[in-house]
Amino acid sequence: MAEALDFRSPYLLSVTLLLLLVVAIFFSPLNQRHHLSLNFSSSPTSFSSPSNFQHQTTGNFNTTALHAVAPAPSPSPSPTTQPPLEPRSRHAPSSTSTASKLSQATTKKKKSKTERIEEELGIARAIIRKAIITKNATSDRKEIYIPRGSVYRNPYAFHQSHVEMVKRFKIWSYKEGDLPMVHNGPTTYIYSIEGQFIFEMESGPSPFVAQQPDEAHAFFLPLSVSKITDFLIRPHHETFFHRLDRTFTEYIYVVADKYPYWNRSGGADHFFVSCHDWAPIISRDDPRPYKNLIKVLCNANTSEGFKPTRDVSLPEYNLKAFDLGPPRFGEPPDKRPLLAFFAGAAHGDIRSILFEHWKEKDDEVRVYEKLPKDLNYHKLMGQTKFCLCPSGSEVASPRVVEAMYAGCVPVLISDYYAVPFDDVLDWSKFSIQIPPKRISEIKTILKAVPYSKYLKLQKRVMQVRRHFELNRPAKPYDVFHMVLHSVWLRRLNIRIPDRF
Ligand SMILES: *[C@@H]1O[C@H](CO)[C@@H](O)[C@H](O)[C@H]1NC(C)=O
Ligand SMILES: *[C@@H]1O[C@H](CO)[C@@H](O)[C@H](O)[C@H]1NC(C)=O
Ligand SMILES: *[C@@H]1O[C@H](CO)[C@@H](O)[C@H](O)[C@H]1NC(C)=O
Ligand SMILES: *[C@@H]1O[C@H](CO)[C@@H](O)[C@H](O)[C@H]1NC(C)=O
Ligand SMILES: *[C@@H]1O[C@H](CO)[C@@H](O)[C@H](O)[C@H]1NC(C)=O
Repeated sequence: MAEALDFRSPYLLSVTLLLLLVVAIFFSPLNQRHHLSLNFSSSPTSFSSPSNFQHQTTGNFNTTALHAVAPAPSPSPSPTTQPPLEPRSRHAPSSTSTASKLSQATTKKKKSKTERIEEELGIARAIIRKAIITKNATSDRKEIYIPRGSVYRNPYAFHQSHVEMVKRFKIWSYKEGDLPMVHNGPTTYIYSIEGQFIFEMESGPSPFVAQQPDEAHAFFLPLSVSKITDFLIRPHHETFFHRLDRTFTEYIYVVADKYPYWNRSGGADHFFVSCHDWAPIISRDDPRPYKNLIKVLCNANTSEGFKPTRDVSLPEYNLKAFDLGPPRFGEPPDKRPLLAFFAGAAHGDIRSILFEHWKEKDDEVRVYEKLPKDLNYHKLMGQTKFCLCPSGSEVASPRVVEAMYAGCVPVLISDYYAVPFDDVLDWSKFSIQIPPKRISEIKTILKAVPYSKYLKLQKRVMQVRRHFELNRPAKPYDVFHMVLHSVWLRRLNIRIPDRF
């Protein structure tokens, strides 16, 4: 009975839900090989062939409603397993029914560290489910912020999940590797968030850092694609791309060989963070280690292997190292004479279409390739109602965050872009999406937005802005927490077996 629950009609289902909750609390976290899925989104699914540690990969990412999926009963046939990382050959997984019997036999024994970690995640899932049902999140600390309102797909689920994450989530950052390519702090320019993240994980007093790897729920690979690029591209121009992915992949083989954690999960509880355009190509020469690995990427192009269920979309920032966000020159909504604004280089197909139609052609839709010297980029954003954020040579644009800082409603113009924090945030409530093929209609589309709707969108931009803010050290609900929360949600949706 792989049963899916639709939380759009919670009252009708509440008895079933409470029953499930009891099941979740008392039985499932540990001893059963249930796939307890927690999902803030999308249409019901039955988990016909869940693997223990494969992220859910079911169809398109419809996020209009909140669903949670009932435990998939699967003591037999037991889940298919991902073979451990084999440098050369890959064996088909042997019949796993013996393995599942074995694991049932061992459940009587003293709890292993892995079991205890899974048990804790099971408790967190149950508490989040309870918040979904009761529409009331609880916390034993003082919360600096309570998520509320339509920008959240489910504010109670998110609130409780964030509380549980801050309370429990521990991450081990591998110590292997040397500067400058590994462990490197803030990077600059449009890759800055990558280094900011590594710095926060490694240099600060972050409460998320595990003291020991065996107490960690997730594992961080502290490599920087942008630093590898800086360091290798000039001396090895011809062979650079092979070196980039070899450097990355070898790191994975090193930690998979040295510690049990990678093989235990097939990499599904491991992640790395990169804002570099080239990050998606690291798996080109040897795709095997990347099957389950959580890739946290700015270049979240679903047409280039980015999977929203497994991977995490990272917002992009254009900053100098150690800067904490663009300036805030936003005017109030009634003091924004410009309808739309864009300034930026001509790269990528979408921008060439944009320039063809709008470059320096309209007083209300201001589009520049080169901004005249007497104009200030951030001030103009602060005087504009809608800020155009077209994809360039990669799908993400730092303009999305810049627009939010300036209180300007972002207008996403992209194909195949998986927007950040889509599990939690409903982007339709604080942004406008215009498909690239309708670029010629930008003015008509934006003029058709009633002023009252614009005011709502603008107000919500001001509200969600906190989720895109950088702090050092990080603060609850800021962008660092949002990225970790995305990883946390993916980790909650997998279960690591205890056979290792
Ligand atoms: C959530 O579940 C839906 C189906 O119910 C699926 O399409 C979607 O990919 C899932 N999302 C995550 C993050 O697992
Ligand atoms: C998503 O689901 C909602 C409600 O089930 C439905 O109205 C909507 O059309 C779906 N959207 C997509 C893109 O599938
Ligand atoms: C993980 O699996 C690979 C391939 O089977 C093996 O070479 C490696 O030694 C294993 N790692 C550990 C820590 O056992
Ligand atoms: C939420 O739960 C707390 C603690 O259990 C309780 O004090 C509060 O009244 C509840 N709020 C609502 C709206 O039910
Ligand atoms: C996304 O990927 C597709 C397929 O590789 C590519 O055609 C497209 O240009 C990419 N988008 C951007 C903005 O790079």
